[in-house]
Amino acid sequence: MEQTKLRFVRLRRYVWWLAAIWTVVLSGSLVWNLVSHNMEIKDLALNTARLTIEKDLLLRQWGASHGGVYVPVTAATQPNPYLSQIPERDIPTPSGRLLTLLNPAYMTRQLYELAQQKQSDIQGHSTSLRPANPQNAPDAWETQALQALERGQTEVSFLENREGKSFVRLMRPYHTEKSCLKCHAVHGYKEGDLRGGISVSLSFDRGTGYGPHIFLIWLSHGFILLVGLGLIGLGFCKINQDQREQMQMEEALRKSEEFTRSIIENSPDCIKVLDLEGLLQFMSPAGLKTMKITNFAEYLNFPYLDFFQGENREAAREALDQARHGETGVFLGYCPTLDGVPKWWDVQVSPIFGSNGQVERLVAASRDITAQKQIERDLARYQEHLATMVTERTAELQKTNEKLQQARRDWE
Ligand code: HEC
Repeated sequence: MEQTKLRFVRLRRYVWWLAAIWTVVLSGSLVWNLVSHNMEIKDLALNTARLTIEKDLLLRQWGASHGGVYVPVTAATQPNPYLSQIPERDIPTPSGRLLTLLNPAYMTRQLYELAQQKQSDIQGHSTSLRPANPQNAPDAWETQALQALERGQTEVSFLENREGKSFVRLMRPYHTEKSCLKCHAVHGYKEGDLRGGISVSLSFDRGTGYGPHIFLIWLSHGFILLVGLGLIGLGFCKINQDQREQMQMEEALRKSEEFTRSIIENSPDCIKVLDLEGLLQFMSPAGLKTMKITNFAEYLNFPYLDFFQGENREAAREALDQARHGETGVFLGYCPTLDGVPKWWDVQVSPIFGSNGQVERLVAASRDITAQKQIERDLARYQEHLATMVTERTAELQKTNEKLQQARRDWE
């Protein structure tokens, strides 16, 4: 019972360890997945930002390549005061409508003003450390980014949280080209100079499946964790039950063996177990005592037949053969004890079958019938004595009879 408890405790410890390891492994996997998902999302956001900037750049280059574009003057689109030095900034159409020149920076500013009105999460900005228009001055991050670009960096990115949303900000350098000089030569820029930077900022919580995907990662890990823990638990119950059953079986077996042993130990007969060759493997305590054997080790593997001589030996051999063939052989045999006391035995040899149904060993049970034999012999002797007495008496009687007849004849 103690042992069962110990096994149970040990098994439970293993199970706890297993569950802990499983949990750690899955937690590791969860963290790994979340981190790599996060990295993927950031990569994706950065790439989107790059594409946006590239498109902005194209748009500007297109504008610059035309030396700006003319649009109708409206309340929202007023002639740009910073272009006042350009000769044909404003031109009337033949019908009298006034058109004004839009420089690329103005174009994109209007574009992103539109985005702001539509509450889009994409924002773009052209800026410079020396802005022609103070309105285009950089913010704190942009200042740092522009300084980095001046040091030769080709791209500066930054992830930030604003109002509970994740944003990626990206800035690319904007170099002065020939087409820019039309308007920017007056600001002291030459071809190839870093004119400034163009930056975008976009939120990557939305439209990237960020939220639902993370939820799925959590859900799947939770599910796998629970299934694993469940299986470990079930395994524990099963093993525990099996162990219990095995212990019960062992206990039953032990009891039955104990019972058999107590029967053998308490039997007055001399019970011996032989192997198939007829060599002695075991002798019951009563047998050892009767035969006056003190150390059984000396008789281990002793040929059983050697206990008998002559006719007895033949009878014993036959009985062993019968038992080897699965039957029960019996014989009467004479075998004195070690200290020479004559003993007669009534022996029964039976097979012991193995689990495969084959005879595995033999058991010989000998009952001491010396006393019975003695009585038989005494009886025979007495009978003999009686017979001689009868013959003697008969002879005596005949003699007397003869004498009597002689006397009668003499008398006559
Ligand atoms: C048609 C004239 C015109 C052309 C062509 C032009 N720009 Fe500008 N650009 C301006 C004006 C005017 C401003 C400032 C006023 C504003 O914000 O509209 C400006 C602003 C900028 C700004 C914002 C920072 C600042 O100085 O205010 C950058 C950067 C810039 N331009 C880069 C360029 C580059 C690079 C090119 C050539 C590919 C170019 N521009 C072509 C007229 C022009």
